[in-house]
Amino acid sequence: MISPIIIALDLDYEDSLEFAKKIDPEHCRLKVGSQLFTQKGPQIIEELSALGFDIFLDLKFHDIPNTVASAVEVASEMGVWMLNVHTSGGSKMMEAARLAANKSVNPPLVIGVTILTSLNQADMNELGVKSISNQINDLASLAHKSSLDGIVCSAGDVKNIKSLLGEDFLTITPGIRSINAPKDDQSRVSSAKQAIEDGSDYLVIGRPITRSSDPLKSLEIFLKEIG
Ligand code: C5P
Repeated sequence: MISPIIIALDLDYEDSLEFAKKIDPEHCRLKVGSQLFTQKGPQIIEELSALGFDIFLDLKFHDIPNTVASAVEVASEMGVWMLNVHTSGGSKMMEAARLAANKSVNPPLVIGVTILTSLNQADMNELGVKSISNQINDLASLAHKSSLDGIVCSAGDVKNIKSLLGEDFLTITPGIRSINAPKDDQSRVSSAKQAIEDGSDYLVIGRPITRSSDPLKSLEIFLKEIG
């Protein structure tokens, strides 16, 4: 069984490919985000898939329903394992994304981004949102009602979401940092062990692995930490 770790390849094309060639697809999945996809497009999906990796295409689609549905249809045809849309696009947009993904022979998991883990309550106050946890509950419930497979949230939100929407509703948690490690631009962080104990289904880990002096060793340490 593949581990629940998804490595965020926030690197350029050459570095991403070099890194992927050194790791075992049994140990993790790979996330292709806006940097890498803007640089190489579908080619990078093909190349990483050919190495045996499941790919999470993290482009966080957020637009009117028709535009998002068209993008999701094309992404699904590329054979990605998971993709995401912003829940704040609303239920009509999420339902359109779900239907578009389902046209594919092998539909990807469709996940809703709730509130970015880089945002804290002070940031949300600026946006007029009084309570992060209430907002996450509302956005997650809307994603569930719109037949998405799960959400992206912080590990600290997982217990609450699982009790609200059930164990089968997937939680994908970035913002994974070891205690005392630099937070970088993340705000709502948890350790990998804590995230798993709280019931997170998949952990997205980027810089703590890809920017470490020994990325393979760092991956190995995270794998040990989550057992
Ligand atoms: O390097 P780091 O571990 O912080 O990377 C986290 C990854 O997860 C980044 O690629 C970021 O785009 C993504 N992400 C996030 N918070 C979200 C959704 C995605 O940090 N809510």
